[in-house]
Amino acid sequence: MGLATAYQVCKDGARVLVVERGAFMHEDSSSGGATRQFRLQYAEEYMARMVQASIPLWNELQGHTDKLLRSQVGSLWFGDPETSGSEGQINGAIEVMTALKIPFERLTAGQIEERFAFRGLPEHYRGFLQADGGTIHVPATLRVMLAELRTYKQATLLPSEAVTEIRSSAGGVTIATASGARFSGGKLVLTAGPYAARMLAPLGVTLEMEIWQMASCYFSKLRPDVDYPSWFAFEAERADDPGLYYGFEEVGWSNPGTIRVAPAFANHIFSDPDERAPRPDPRDIAYTERWVAAHMPGLDPRALSVSSCLAALPRDDSHKMFLDFAPGSVPHGDNIVVFAGGWAFKFVPLVGRICADLALHGRTAYDISHFAIGPAAAAKSGVPISRRRRLVF
Ligand code: BEZ
Repeated sequence: MGLATAYQVCKDGARVLVVERGAFMHEDSSSGGATRQFRLQYAEEYMARMVQASIPLWNELQGHTDKLLRSQVGSLWFGDPETSGSEGQINGAIEVMTALKIPFERLTAGQIEERFAFRGLPEHYRGFLQADGGTIHVPATLRVMLAELRTYKQATLLPSEAVTEIRSSAGGVTIATASGARFSGGKLVLTAGPYAARMLAPLGVTLEMEIWQMASCYFSKLRPDVDYPSWFAFEAERADDPGLYYGFEEVGWSNPGTIRVAPAFANHIFSDPDERAPRPDPRDIAYTERWVAAHMPGLDPRALSVSSCLAALPRDDSHKMFLDFAPGSVPHGDNIVVFAGGWAFKFVPLVGRICADLALHGRTAYDISHFAIGPAAAAKSGVPISRRRRLVF
């Protein structure tokens, strides 16, 4: 999000310094991993409109690289319509697609098994395929933004420098870093993912987020012809299994010959990024192996290339992400723009544009009213950190 913002700032002719605590192509924060899902369907119309608005910006970025940033293998959603949450997701998305005239195809469990290499789906499962969805090439997206930024003289990229202090005054913003450097500028855009709440706390801002350590793994294909669209399965929660899994097509840039399948839940949920475990939670991997064994006979159900990344999510799960100025309680808070939280990689170029709009022009034409940092989020501060499954994502 920081690179996307800096890119848009440069396009508007302003100067920008990008300060990153790790490496720009990093595995230790929320842009880890090789793939993310791109989907148009949402149970909220404003989210589907955001994805639609992101497409021209993805296309612009695509113009700068030969690597395909966003495959369109289709996005398949299916699940148990008798689970109220699944039904809410699948039927809610169908309603929104219908309202916005986004084409999709309804599928029964039998049709899903006939068309795709899933097996053992209970007969009453239902779903749909939305043909424009697919898979985002994460490293290529980061790389093209970095390469573009390096062509602008007014951009300075500073990796391996952690920001330790933020101040805002009538004259602009100042930051201090762990190495003792200080930098001043007119505006600050904070896109620190799982570190955002920690960085805002000294300004008196409580950003109500929790951090999920999301596991990921790959499974070897047993036959060369086995492949999938990008997909998400919503099953009923069982005592030992949250029942939400997702996966991708085989991609040439990450573990060829295997297919990525991951749990869309986390057993390890915490508040501070330092609480990250050295390895993914073994239960998350074991449940995923069991799901693959039960439903994906074209894959060897032994998890390979196991990894994890941190996902920061607003604690109030009706709040999809935070994208706003720092609250009014922060002195000169309108010098600080904050993006944090949410399943948002599909919005990267758009969030970059919006953050640049807010920083450079003080407003944006895009509807960000649903992402305010404000009382709605703060009021939920008592919500316990215990959920490992969320149907509204
Ligand atoms: C998403 O489409 O937003 C998503 C897919 C899989 C896991 C988490 C989020």
